[in-house]
Amino acid sequence: MTKPRLYSGMQPSADSLQIGNYIGALLQWRDLQSSYDAYFSVVDLHALTVAQDPSVLREKTRRTAAQYIAAGIEPSLSTLYVQSHVRAHAELAWILSTITGFGEAGRMTQFKDKSSRYGQDGTSVGLFTYPVLMAADILLYQTDVVPVGDDQKQHVELTRTLAERFNSRFGETFTVPMPVIQKETARIYDLQNPTSKMSKSAESDAGVIWMLDDPAKSAKKIMRAVTDTEGSVRFDRENKPGVSNLLTIYAALTGQQVSSIENEYAGRGYGDFKKALAEVVVHEFEPVRARALELLDDPAELDRILAANAGKADAVADATLSDVYDRVGL
Ligand code: ADP
Ligand code: NA
Repeated sequence: MTKPRLYSGMQPSADSLQIGNYIGALLQWRDLQSSYDAYFSVVDLHALTVAQDPSVLREKTRRTAAQYIAAGIEPSLSTLYVQSHVRAHAELAWILSTITGFGEAGRMTQFKDKSSRYGQDGTSVGLFTYPVLMAADILLYQTDVVPVGDDQKQHVELTRTLAERFNSRFGETFTVPMPVIQKETARIYDLQNPTSKMSKSAESDAGVIWMLDDPAKSAKKIMRAVTDTEGSVRFDRENKPGVSNLLTIYAALTGQQVSSIENEYAGRGYGDFKKALAEVVVHEFEPVRARALELLDDPAELDRILAANAGKADAVADATLSDVYDRVGL
């Protein structure tokens, strides 16, 4: 029996990924990769929707790929590639854009949020058609499941709509994919602002734990994480967002239940708990960081891995694209 196909990706929007990307995406990808025929891409075409310095973008893309591998995505098991290495993404996006309603695209809440931040002139047409490119990413591989954060759920819904629309106009062409929404317990918040999601594109990184940072620096950030005055290590997202976030990280990295961590730290202060968490984080990321740096030290080998995987992705994507061209009359 063939394995169901899975597709996911991340933008190369920073030099390092952050602990939320690791817990919310990479750890799950790593666990899913043996039961699925998995495609993981570094979506550099998506990154172009905001202004980028060319050489910096190229470097961030390689660093992101190295971190996927360092976190346990096996390039011999999963197909781990850079989006722009497979030309079919941009080509299918064009065709899908011709069956996407202008109003339909305009209803995407992420576009509405971003465009209101960037203003009329700072907002590119590419930002508007971003979800169409994402639909192309997914549909090219006849994807069955797409693990995403809930902020991307609407884009996967649009992808399903476009797949169904194309299939009904031109005949069965695309698999209609299912979103798999990340569990709320896998959501990590900013250590300094624990009601907003930790992000690699946050304005200040005081509350961000970077995968590639010096471990001592990460430990310091944990010791300084915002908590509350109650003094008890107890999960309560509503009233104790800071402590709850730290508990989430602790649980995700150790595999322990939140309740058993609460018991362990009952009657002890936040200092003890933070110190233990800092050790857990340092222990987790030391080998990941070392592996990523080792990969980045050998660019030829990393390029070889990425080229081989892009070749594999290209073959699958090209078969879908040829079929699509045929069906629409090109
Ligand atoms: P960022 O906000 O860091 O730029 P992206 O929006 O590029 O992250 O998301 C990349 C992946 O990482 C997605 O699968 C997303 O769900 C996951 N992710 C990002 N931030 C977090 C977080 N704070 N907690 C859990 N998962 C996250
Ligand atoms: Na591979």
